[in-house]
Amino acid sequence: MSHKVLMLPGDHIGPDIVAEADRLLHCLADDFGLRVELEYAHLGGCAVDAEGQPFPESTRALAQASDAMLLGAVGGPEWDAIERDKRPERGLLAIREALGLFANLRPAMLFPALAEASSLRADVVAGLDILIVRELTGGIYFGQPRGIRTRDDGLREGFNTLVYNTDEIERIGHAAFAAASRRQGQLCSVDKANVLESSELWREVMTDLSAQYPQVELSHLYVDNAAMQLVRSPKQFDVMVTGNLFGDILSDCAAMLTGSIGMLPSAALDANGRGLYEPVHGSAPDISGQDRANPLATLLSVAMMLRHSLAEGALADRVERAVEAVLAQGWRTADLAAVGDTPVGTRAMGDAVIAALRAQAD
Ligand code: IPM
Ligand code: MG
Repeated sequence: MSHKVLMLPGDHIGPDIVAEADRLLHCLADDFGLRVELEYAHLGGCAVDAEGQPFPESTRALAQASDAMLLGAVGGPEWDAIERDKRPERGLLAIREALGLFANLRPAMLFPALAEASSLRADVVAGLDILIVRELTGGIYFGQPRGIRTRDDGLREGFNTLVYNTDEIERIGHAAFAAASRRQGQLCSVDKANVLESSELWREVMTDLSAQYPQVELSHLYVDNAAMQLVRSPKQFDVMVTGNLFGDILSDCAAMLTGSIGMLPSAALDANGRGLYEPVHGSAPDISGQDRANPLATLLSVAMMLRHSLAEGALADRVERAVEAVLAQGWRTADLAAVGDTPVGTRAMGDAVIAALRAQAD
């Protein structure tokens, strides 16, 4: 049986980096026996331009028929002024919601060859390997009511609702405890329970769940302290679990510890293993179409897809080893280059990974 993968290049550097993922998947098919069929669809600004909506019906139908999706990035200044419901980011939120992709896995891992590229001292980050599990379809991103209104006294106010129910907390909790059981057995739940009722319930549910996972040690941190600890001594963390907004912020922070946000993959999973895979970085309009973007986060997202949605763990390991090998060989895109390095472009980096894959012994 062939896996169906929907490719969603999106905007700006999205098509540049997804082209490398396409070549990698074809290499895996031709040389390593992966059975895969690729389809393409619009999401984000390109979908607004082509079909009038950031998440068109045609994309929804293809997404629902796929086993997994690979997204480049969405957004750009040309769509900033359009009405709120048509912004590219809304397309991303809509696909997450429509497909029930509630479990967002954001690993922040430091490749040994990049220890010097971090803004923190090499000894603080060497060996870093954190997994942030972010709740992705609830919380303040989706809570109702929301909007901008004019009060009786004429003042305008913007408002959003932060709400979590026990089902939502439990299902992301199970995903996080399960991930921690497969890793070092440490789970840190991040909330703001000293101020927010939604966090009070979050903490209570996580604590109750921990009884089902005796092999996992659960701790709790307030989000402000968690942000501080992430830059003070990040290696204390194994798995972190948190809500939608806190996870958005903390995952960018964790990403930077690894030297470049251009390195980090992510997965957004539903309850049945279907997933949307995407690099954590954005669409980088300033370098789009110039063969300058780092494709490694996208190629590592392909590895996550192979592991979590396509049951091809051995191929996932191969892709990750190939990325590690090219970094050890000294290949650097501009975002990773140190003084004295000659950076390579997107395509050359993609070539290097494919060559490293083919050179693997077994
Ligand atoms: C992310 C992004 C999105 C989010 C935006 C683009 C809607 O920042 O995936 O982290 O906030 O979830
Ligand atoms: Mg973000």
